[in-house]
Amino acid sequence: MELRGLRDDVYRRPLATALDRLGIGPGWTCVDVGAGGGDVTVALAEIVGHDGRVYAVDSDPQARDEVAAAAAAHSQVLAITQSGEDLRLPEPVDLAFCRFLLLHVVDPSLVLRRMAAATRPGGWVVAQEPITSAGRIAGRPFTMPDARHPDVGALLPSLVREAGLDIVDAWAEAPAGAGPGPVADYLEVLTEVDPGDDPVVLPPLVTVVAQVPVA
Ligand SMILES: C[S@@+](CC[C@H](N)C(=O)[O-])C[C@H]1O[C@@H](n2cnc3c(N)ncnc32)[C@H](O)[C@@H]1O
Repeated sequence: MELRGLRDDVYRRPLATALDRLGIGPGWTCVDVGAGGGDVTVALAEIVGHDGRVYAVDSDPQARDEVAAAAAAHSQVLAITQSGEDLRLPEPVDLAFCRFLLLHVVDPSLVLRRMAAATRPGGWVVAQEPITSAGRIAGRPFTMPDARHPDVGALLPSLVREAGLDIVDAWAEAPAGAGPGPVADYLEVLTEVDPGDDPVVLPPLVTVVAQVPVA
C-alpha cells in the first residue's frame, strides 16, 4: 500500500482543521512547500478554485511530475522545483503551507523565514510538523532515524515566532487506534511491522497557524 495516500487519510483531520481555522476560500494564492506527491496541493486547489493559484514547490524534481499527475484536473496548480531555503515565487501569496517538511530540511528556521517572506503582509503561514518520539507503539516511542529533526514539531511555535510571525493558533493532534484500520496500515507501511492488536498513537502533528505582521 502506498504511504502518501495513507498519510493523507490518517492526517486528514489536522489538515482540515487548519484550513478551517484560516477561512481560506476561492481566489486565494497559496504555496505548498515540500509538496511531495501533492496531497496538500490538491486539497488547496480544490478550495481556491480556478480563480486561485497554488504553487507546489519541492526540491526533488521527481515531485514535480507526481504533483502534475495528482493535480492534472487543476490548471491552477503550478509545480516548481526549488528548495524551501531558496523559495522565490512570481507573486506574494495569501498562504504559505508546509507539512512533514521541516523535519527533513537542514535549517527549519531559514525555511520558515523564506515562507514568511513569500507571503503578503496580513497573509498566513501554516506549518504542520510531527513530534516523532511522542508517537507510541504498544507504549514504546517511535523513532525516525532518517529525519534530520524528527521532533521539530515540539519546537515549532518558537521557530515560527523567531521567523517574525504572529501566532494566531497552535495545537497538536495524533491519530490513534488498535487493530485493523488506517492507523495500523500506515504504521505497517512506515515501519514494515504489523502492530497486530497493539495500541498505536501516531506521531502528533503540531500545527501552527500564523500571520505575517502588517507593517
Ligand atoms: C515527507 S514528504 C511530505 C510531502 C507533503 N508535504 C505531505 O504532507 O504529504 C517531504 C517532502 O519534502 C521535500 N523536501 C525535502 N527537503 C526539502 C527542501 N529543503 N525544500 C523543499 N522540499 C524539500 C521532499 O522532496 C519531499 O517531497
